[in-house]
Amino acid sequence: MKAIQFATYGGPEVLRLVDVEEPHAGPGEVRIAVRAAGVNGFDGKVRAGYLAEQMPLTLPAGTGLDAAGVVDEVGEDVVDVEVGAAVFGSGRSTYAEFAVLTSWAAKPEGMSFEEAAGYPVPVETAIRILDQVGVTAGQTLLVSGAAGGVGSAVVQIARARGITVVGTASARNQDYLRSIGAVPTTYGDGLVDRVRGVAQDGVDAALDIAGSGVISELIELTGEPSKVVSIADFSAPSRARRSRRSPRTCRCVRSGGAAVRRRRAAHPGRPHVPPPPRR
Ligand SMILES: NC(=O)c1ccc[n+]([C@@H]2O[C@H](COP(=O)([O-])OP(=O)(O)OC[C@H]3O[C@@H](n4cnc5c(N)ncnc54)[C@H](OP(=O)(O)O)[C@@H]3O)[C@@H](O)[C@H]2O)c1
Repeated sequence: MKAIQFATYGGPEVLRLVDVEEPHAGPGEVRIAVRAAGVNGFDGKVRAGYLAEQMPLTLPAGTGLDAAGVVDEVGEDVVDVEVGAAVFGSGRSTYAEFAVLTSWAAKPEGMSFEEAAGYPVPVETAIRILDQVGVTAGQTLLVSGAAGGVGSAVVQIARARGITVVGTASARNQDYLRSIGAVPTTYGDGLVDRVRGVAQDGVDAALDIAGSGVISELIELTGEPSKVVSIADFSAPSRARRSRRSPRTCRCVRSGGAAVRRRRAAHPGRPHVPPPPRR
């Protein structure tokens, strides 16, 4: 089959379309004929070698976590799906004609394969970090990096949960943020004052999705390190420890895995710098 692989770490230019052996579904897995693959920031970090120490790869390696397609092999112990079903989910080496998924859900009929392939990692991440930060209906959440894949999922799920969302994005994405229900503001210098200007009752919790070095500002706005969660800034826990406001620290959380079906348990209140994703 044809697949996209890389033989050396680097930018997108190291990706090659090559012929490889077809993968097969193991126990608890399905194989799909891929109709669309989802592209995540994580894919680029792995390909660039940022995770080479924590997650050594045998090169050449496949790439991609998310995909949508039609099931053509069902592994042992799988009882909820049959060959021929249209599904979307997460697995491994999904930029390929065939890919093995470790978690999946039925693709709604009215949803295209392309749209479905964009959901798994961003939406699983959004739900996981909203639950971890512990924000509830009637409260206000600040999202740093609200216009991207994870951020736009966070905004919409939070709004559906009755949470007011202040989101940061570049000037060109202010209208987009407004259209999905966030109160928009821009990132960059003066963030704390701008957020206070639009969230006059204060900010109850904050999510750092862009990893742009704003942990101190987010702690200043929430007044409480444990109300800040980052998915992209691994210096977050050490920065929070410098805060004298609270003995608790903010958290930097790892990838939750391919959990469209199986969400990993959160660890509220437990500070940790997580190990690399197991993929
Ligand atoms: N730990 C985990 O579990 C986990 C899971 C999924 C993703 N991630 C990580 O989370 C990050 C975001 O992923 P994604 O898929 O949402 O990426 P994405 O779709 O590329 O979105 C990134 C967003 O960041 C915004 N941005 C850029 N510079 C910014 C700044 N200085 N301040 C605030 N926002 C800024 C951009 O907005 P503009 O276009 O408006 O500039 C863009 O929309 C990546 O680093 C990814 O690897 C971690």
